[in-house]
This record gives sequence, structure tokens and C-alpha cells, in this order.
Amino acid sequence: MRSWNKAWGAVASVFMLATPILGGQRPSSSPRPFNLIQWNHGKFVYGADYYPEAWPESQWGKDAEMMQAAGINFVRMGEFSWVKMEPEEGHFDFSWLDRALKILSAHGIHAVLGTPTASPPAWLYAEYPDIAAMNAEGIRYRFGSRRNYCLHNPHFLAATRQIVTALAEHYKDNPAVIGFQIDNELGNPYCYDNYCLTAFQNWCRDKYKTLDALNRAWGTVFWGHTYTAWPQIPLPWNTLYGVHNPSLELDYDRFFSDSTKNYLELQARILRRIAPTKAITTNEMGMFDAIDYSRLNTSLDFVAWDNYPMFDQNQSDYFGPALAHDLMRGSKHNQNFMVMEEEAGLPGWTTFWGHQAPPGLYRVWAYQAVAHGADGVCFFRWRTSTYGTEQYWQGILDQDSYPNSRYHVIARMGKEIQRLTPILEGSHVVSQVALLVSPDSRWAFHIQPLTRGFNYNRQLHRYYDAFRRRAVNVDVTFPQDNFSAYKVLVAPSLFVVNSELVRKLTQFVNHGGLLILSYRSGVKDSHNVFTTRTLPGRLAPLAGISIHDYDPETTQPQKIVMSDGASYPADVWFDILTLLTARVLVTYGENFYAGQPAVTINHYGRGAVIYVGTESPSNRFYDGLVKLAARRAGLTFGPKLPTGIEMATRQKPGEKIIFLLNYTGKPQSVELGTATRNALTGQTEPVNVAIPPYDLRVLTQR
Ligand code: GAL
Repeated sequence: MRSWNKAWGAVASVFMLATPILGGQRPSSSPRPFNLIQWNHGKFVYGADYYPEAWPESQWGKDAEMMQAAGINFVRMGEFSWVKMEPEEGHFDFSWLDRALKILSAHGIHAVLGTPTASPPAWLYAEYPDIAAMNAEGIRYRFGSRRNYCLHNPHFLAATRQIVTALAEHYKDNPAVIGFQIDNELGNPYCYDNYCLTAFQNWCRDKYKTLDALNRAWGTVFWGHTYTAWPQIPLPWNTLYGVHNPSLELDYDRFFSDSTKNYLELQARILRRIAPTKAITTNEMGMFDAIDYSRLNTSLDFVAWDNYPMFDQNQSDYFGPALAHDLMRGSKHNQNFMVMEEEAGLPGWTTFWGHQAPPGLYRVWAYQAVAHGADGVCFFRWRTSTYGTEQYWQGILDQDSYPNSRYHVIARMGKEIQRLTPILEGSHVVSQVALLVSPDSRWAFHIQPLTRGFNYNRQLHRYYDAFRRRAVNVDVTFPQDNFSAYKVLVAPSLFVVNSELVRKLTQFVNHGGLLILSYRSGVKDSHNVFTTRTLPGRLAPLAGISIHDYDPETTQPQKIVMSDGASYPADVWFDILTLLTARVLVTYGENFYAGQPAVTINHYGRGAVIYVGTESPSNRFYDGLVKLAARRAGLTFGPKLPTGIEMATRQKPGEKIIFLLNYTGKPQSVELGTATRNALTGQTEPVNVAIPPYDLRVLTQR
């Protein structure tokens, strides 16, 4: 049997157009306005999340000294200390924080302060128990834990305004404070109380204007769910069988995401009005999908997020955090971002333990963030807590403050990163490939999961990882973005589409772009209603196929077969493709549809569309596919990378910065084929670059 790549090569040569589908170079991704390094007074933002309020004041000076010695020039503080800042309603006390800031600032350390709304005080719950959210069974949470508030509770909103106003007033002129982080990891919980119910009904009224329009859009004729008055509209709460109208559910997801954005904006408006010189951000959660970050982030100066690679280790290894970094960067038009919480030790809550990483890996993970466009990395947390739920969640230091191996690893990077700053400043990730993430599709798949084997993020990774295995940078883009900067756009399982998105995709292909679609695309309209067009719905003309039959999951093994007979397994969803204008690339090998097309290509305008009707567990299938895509679109692959090595690049005019990251415990090497300069030592690196275990190389090339 011939190798997969060879087989793809044969396919590629058959379908290569006489003229390249892409005329000339496209502009690279858009410019980025906020400069984190300038904001941090010319220094790469290198920090720790710090909770001085939990430690004796006598220890603060020593902490600041140890931070400074480790190259730390930044802290984030205060995001859970509402009761310390406002011990009684309307009585504010920032003196403890002032003292901490004074000590830190004497050691060259600036701060971002969290607005402390993630942890409302016990006195606020005592006075207004209904500030807590209500679950779908109608039970209200109680004080304890954190972030369990209702986003529409008027008492909570009033209390938020008060504390945020007081914080902004107090720190508006303090140079030690360079910005604010709004709340902490906005996004949960869903709330089903009357405040949220009324807010949802109003949201629906704003969107649809008339009940007729809403009833039509949601298809409430089904099961006789027609509404005759706005107050009848429910939330997707506890029902028999746990099922709801999928259209209502998708609108509820949008409503919740909008409500979170409104809450963030309520705070952002106060901060901007009172303290206009301070930057505003919030700490986000990468692949977390209850919020559409691409819409949330319009109100922020820059994106920050919390990176715990341990959570991805079993999923797709280092590509997990890589994609999350790229998604976070993409959620604000590829502007450079920072990591507000970077894993610094063993994760562990009351009820679970994570894995301990080799100390060197924490540094590699932090550099991975930089390689993907971070101009700041702040480690969570300075010191492990002696109290509460997170006593087992290691910070840089343990409770005993001993300068342990993690401290030394982080201090090493602290020195290096200052040396790298002039090289990094002004550089960005530039990509010719983009992955289209559709928040509407993600929600719709949660609402009506496809099959047991389906996972939207894994679909993203199938394509993303294949490009990254060949060192091709990938941006993440969202439906409202402009795709024209890219040569290749991959839109896996683009389930929910509207006419505007289809218009933009058509324009992209018409102008020479290569679009890759996969199974279950074009199925739903923007109301989460099934299309009456032949599948793939509005995308059919672009893909040049129609789908009259599909097999969601077979009990028999399935395989896909190349033109030369090479075959690979397929395991999730099988669209049986009928050719209109497309040509077949790959067919099915088993079952009643053996011999039918599984993967097709359609030349359209000056570009082309590849439709992949199934999913394969074989990386080699995707390696072949991206090779074909690269040949057609004129993309250059990077060097062959051994498993466990990632290569990513940033660039600025006249200079490319290459990061080679070794996530393994063995020495590795990469044949770059050209001499580069080691950005840390200044030495010329040989064309074959050696990377020690759990280590990295930062190289420059002019
Ligand atoms: C983050 C959170 C931090 C801390 C950390 C470790 O999600 O923002 O406050 O809880 O996880 O559990």
C-alpha cells in the first residue's frame, strides 16, 4: 500500500489547475493597535497573580524582593477581595492595597487590579439573598464558592456600580496601577430566576419586535408552542425529557453571552469615565464556549486569558493550548494578548489533582504563549494558598516560600525575556491560513449533539493540528470577520449559516481562496432551523455537491479510499456525496455506500472548495489534505518536525522570530535548512538546531 502523502500527491496533480488559484500575495492579517510592552513602561509583562491580603504584611517586602530577583515586573491583585475593599456597605478601605502597591512599586512592579465582583461579600448576600443565581430546577445558590451571581439582579448591579466606582476613583491617579481586570473568568452560571426571565423576554422583544416574527423564526408550530403574549416565553429550564425548542435555546445562549457582555460593559464604562488612562481587560478561558469572545472583546483594550495546559494534555497535547492561544488572539483581530494566569505548578482543587509537570515545561509552556502572540505572561499564583479550596493548587512558591525548582525556572525566563523584549516588541503572528470558529454552530451542537463520537473542538483540531505539524501559522477567525487576508480558510462543521456568511465565503473563494468545509455544514439557518434546501444548504453551490443520504454513526467499521487504493479509517459521520460540479477526491470503502464520494473538490470562481464528508482518526489523512491545500494555495510548509516539537513564528518588518519548543524529555533537533541567530546568546545556530529536553530555542532570521 502506498503512503498517504503519496496518494494525496497523485490526487493533487490530477486536480491542480493550470493557473494557480491564488493571484499574487494577499495582505497578511490586520494591524494591532494596543502595545502591551509600551503600556508596561517598555517591559515585557512578566508577572505573578498575587494575594497579599492572605499573608502577613511583614512578608510583603520579602515577596517583592523575590519577585524582582525573578524578573517579575507585574502583578494582578484584588479580584476576590471585595469584602476587604468594602467591609460594610458604602465604607471603603483600600489602605491595605495601597501599602502593598507601594512596596511592589518600589521594586519596579506594576499592577492590574481586579474589580472584585467575582466574589461578592457575605453581607451583600445576607441583605439581598436573591443576588445569587437560580439553577434550572428553581433552586437559588447560596453564599459560598464564587461567581454565583445573577447578571440581571438590580441589587447586584447597584452594588457592582458602587465598588467599581470607588476602586476607579481611588486608583485613577496612582501610577503603580496600570490597568483593571474586570471580574474573573466571566461566564457562569446560567440563571433561571425572574430577573433573567424578564430580561430574556425583553431581549426577544428587541430582536423580533412582534410575536408573529418570533413564532415564525422559532417554528413554534411544532408541538403547539405558539406564544400569544411576551410573558409566556420561558427560559430553557427544567422540562419533561429535558428538551426545549432548539431555536429558543440558541437565542438563550446568545442572550446569556450578551448579558455577560452588558455586565462587562457596565464596569468598563465606569472605569473609562473615571480612570481613562488605565487599560481594561478581563481574564478569559480560551476554548470556553458559553461566551462569544469575539463579541465580548470589542470593549477591551487587550485580551488576557488563563492558560492551564495540564487540562489539554490528554486531549491534543501541546496543540490544545496552541489553538486556545490562537483563538484568544483571533477574538480581537489578532492583536497581541497576554496570559493573565499561566500554570506555574501542580493544579489541584479540593476534589481533584492534576499532573505535576517537569519544572522545565512550565517555561516551555510560557514561551509557547509568546510564540503565539503573547506580550505578557503572568503566573498563577505567586504562592500556593494555605487556605480554602485551592490549597493544592501550586503557585510558583509553595506555602513555605522556599525558592524551589519552579521559582528558578521562572526566574530564568524572567532574565531571558527582558533580553528578548526589543526583539519581540512590534512583532506579530502572521498567518495565511485561518480556522473559522462559529460560536452559533458550537452552541447548536451543544443543543442537539450530533452523535456520541462528535466533538466540535476535535473537528477544529483535526485541521489545525495538521497545519501546525508542518509549522504553518493558523489564525482563528469568526463569522463577522474579514477573511480576505488568507489563502486558506478552514470551516469545520459549519452547521449554522446565514446569507451574509455565505456571501462572504463565496467572495473569498471567488477571489481565489481555498475553502475547506466538513460534514454537517450548511444544515441550519441562524434560528437553528433545518434548511429546506438540499444539503449542504446554502453552501451547496460553493461545494458543488448535494447530499441526499448520510449515516450518522455506523455499527460497522468504515474506511475512506484514495484513488490509488490506499485507505484510512473513518469514524464519525458519513455524508454520502453526490457530485454536481465537484470532482471526487476520496470515496467510502464499506457499507451500502462503498464507492460513493466522501471527499470532493470544486473549482469555483478563481478558487476552490474541498468538502470532507467524514472524520478520520488518522492524522495522516489530514496531513495529506493540508499538503494538497498547501500546493493549491501556494503555502510554504516549515521543516519536518519531530513529534513533541512545535515551531511557531512572529515577525516584524525585516525580521522573523522562530520559536522551537521541545515538550519532550529527550533531546531533539530540527533541520531548519538555513542559518539563524540565537536571540538569547547572539550566536549563529547551525542549520540543524538542537533543542535540549523541556527546552526551547528562540531564533531570528533577517
Ligand atoms: C482559574 C481562576 C483562578 C484560580 C485558578 C486555579 O480558573 O481564575 O482564580 O481559581 O483557576 O484554580
